[in-house]
Amino acid sequence: MKVVIRNYQKSDYEVCRSLWVELTHHHRDIYEDPSIGGDDPGYGFDEYLENPRRQGTWVAELGGQVVAFGGLLCHSEEGEVEPVVVSQPYRDKGIGTRLVEHVVGEAKKKKVRFLYIRPVARNERAISLYVRLGFNTVGAVDLLQDLSSSYDRKWKPGIRIFDNELSY
Ligand SMILES: CC(C)(COP(=O)(O)OP(=O)(O)OC[C@H]1O[C@@H](n2cnc3c(N)ncnc32)[C@H](O)[C@@H]1OP(=O)(O)O)[C@@H](O)C(=O)NCCC(=O)NCCS
Repeated sequence: MKVVIRNYQKSDYEVCRSLWVELTHHHRDIYEDPSIGGDDPGYGFDEYLENPRRQGTWVAELGGQVVAFGGLLCHSEEGEVEPVVVSQPYRDKGIGTRLVEHVVGEAKKKKVRFLYIRPVARNERAISLYVRLGFNTVGAVDLLQDLSSSYDRKWKPGIRIFDNELSY
């Protein structure tokens, strides 16, 4: 079936908020941490809509049904593809690729110079996809210390940056 990418409109609010919930659940799953996203895992979507850096939001429709959405944030000459989420049953069918390519095209139109995409380090499949789509330069690296005592998140060993063995 043909995938149509179009601008987000107000009537897409509920479906996109539930896609945001799926995004949050994906992060809960990969980190085995049910606390991610708090009590209202869709709330991040409301915050996203209010983000003054939001330049555009697009949905992917399959057979008239919204199954994915993505966005572009901009700040001076920098842009960021954020968020990207495809509903679970529709993953691995090329929809994420279409959506990211669309957002890259919009960033080019807006004369963005450096376009970022910031998956969490644990999101291995997403990272591989984005590298394949041309995001093959590392900008900044987020290093963190886990100071929490309330939830014992298990970090995985096995990521290397220069001569440093790190966890992710
Ligand atoms: C990450 C995500 C956005 C990718 O979207 P997607 O629609 O699944 O991605 P695609 O189908 O374009 O590509 C995924 C794989 O399917 C393959 N594929 C692409 N077109 C295909 C097609 N027509 N038929 C079958 N497989 C296809 C690709 O080769 C790719 O393989 P890879 O994983 O080895 O790179 C989606 O999986 C998702 O929403 N995940 C959960 C939330 C998330 O992680 N979001 C990103 C946060 S940064």
